[in-house]
Amino acid sequence: MKKIIIPKEIITVNENNEILRNHALEIENGVITNILDLEEYNIENFDGEILNFRNLTLIPGFVQTHVHLCQTLFRGLAEDMELLDWLQQKIFPYENSHNLASLKMSAQLGINELQKGGTTTLLDMGTIRHEEIIFEELKKSNMRAIAGKCMMDINELYPAFIESTKDSLDYTYNLAKEFHNSNNGMLKYGFAPRFVLSCSEELLTESKNMMKDFEGSIYHTHSSENKSEIEAVKKMHNMENIEYFNSIDILGEHTVLAHCIHVNDNEINLLKNTNTRISHCPSSNLKLGSGIANIPKYLKENISVSLGADGAPCNNNLSQFTEMRLASLIQKPIHGPTAMDSLTVFRLATIEGARALHLENEIGSIEIGKKADLVLLNFEKPNVTLIDENVYSSIIFSANSDNVENVMIEGKWVVKNGESLNYDEDELYRNSKLELEKLLKRVKVN
Ligand code: GUN
Ligand code: FE
Repeated sequence: MKKIIIPKEIITVNENNEILRNHALEIENGVITNILDLEEYNIENFDGEILNFRNLTLIPGFVQTHVHLCQTLFRGLAEDMELLDWLQQKIFPYENSHNLASLKMSAQLGINELQKGGTTTLLDMGTIRHEEIIFEELKKSNMRAIAGKCMMDINELYPAFIESTKDSLDYTYNLAKEFHNSNNGMLKYGFAPRFVLSCSEELLTESKNMMKDFEGSIYHTHSSENKSEIEAVKKMHNMENIEYFNSIDILGEHTVLAHCIHVNDNEINLLKNTNTRISHCPSSNLKLGSGIANIPKYLKENISVSLGADGAPCNNNLSQFTEMRLASLIQKPIHGPTAMDSLTVFRLATIEGARALHLENEIGSIEIGKKADLVLLNFEKPNVTLIDENVYSSIIFSANSDNVENVMIEGKWVVKNGESLNYDEDELYRNSKLELEKLLKRVKVN
């Protein structure tokens, strides 16, 4: 049945960044079929469902281009550490201890938080084993996602957490065959070799080669996040991280690199010339003390930049509002107060995320023909400005997930009146805690 949504305003994020007031959105079969000017169109003639949200602001759903659903269970359990210690002492042992039940709860916790914060699409890096559970949870919760098992055939930091090259490639190929374009195309495969330090050259290049069998898939990895990491990469390959990726043909428009903080001028040129995508994760970069990526420079060079929360234990939340706020604020002391203005940052969180994943014709803005991935924000709350002067600044600097009232993905509600339609939160909390307690008993530290 056709629906019509009547909000206070529509923040379209179209080419001209139009903001429409006194307009309604018509939706049918999960697609935006019309945008009606209510001065001309008499809604009494409409023969479908009419949804009045005249006090709410309608925005496109957020797109997060780097998350780890498998890590949500470990929030708060890996504090005040730098990347390699954090991986070695905490994250690798924890991920290695996942079983089906704990991974399922971790995915549910993550999806619940992301959807309640207005994120409707994500690029996920899974863990080594049981990736089908993540796909199952994404499907059950009607999430739009590109996901894939994390691949690791080297691990000097924590040798127990490893797989053979062949097993990793075989499992990956089979998963891609099963899940790429599944759930009516809402789920796609993202090949996910974890980072150079955990991957042989064969793993990196063979997983890249697999992409030709899966049109629309993405190559997703970490790069140049931490100074000790890039020193270790240099020791291994005698090159900087991105120079190494270039030398083995990993860069390109279907490749998303998380972080890209410690990058030289030649590497910036490589990113630009190959049209490689950068996923910027400011909370994670600050919390792990990794550094501040030079995002204003990347944007000036027309390099694709989008945003992600990374994993819960390096953040410690999964809210695009936090990432937008920090993406703007951390640059201002360096580049001046006009750097990373709120409209620019809001575009990174929506349409630029869609573009990074080659989904810009389907999502990322509110336009006729696009999927109905929509978020309704309630700004009639005391934490948001009283006079509507700059709605983008309200979204970036004042709002948070508590202002998210309703969320729809491909025409289906997943959050209503601030409550998840997928999960009973009390039960989710109880079961997650139980699984975490069991997991902590299984963990073997080095
Ligand atoms: N590099 C390799 N693995 C990880 C991870 O799990 N998180 C972050 N932030 N960086 C990584
Ligand atoms: Fe990460």
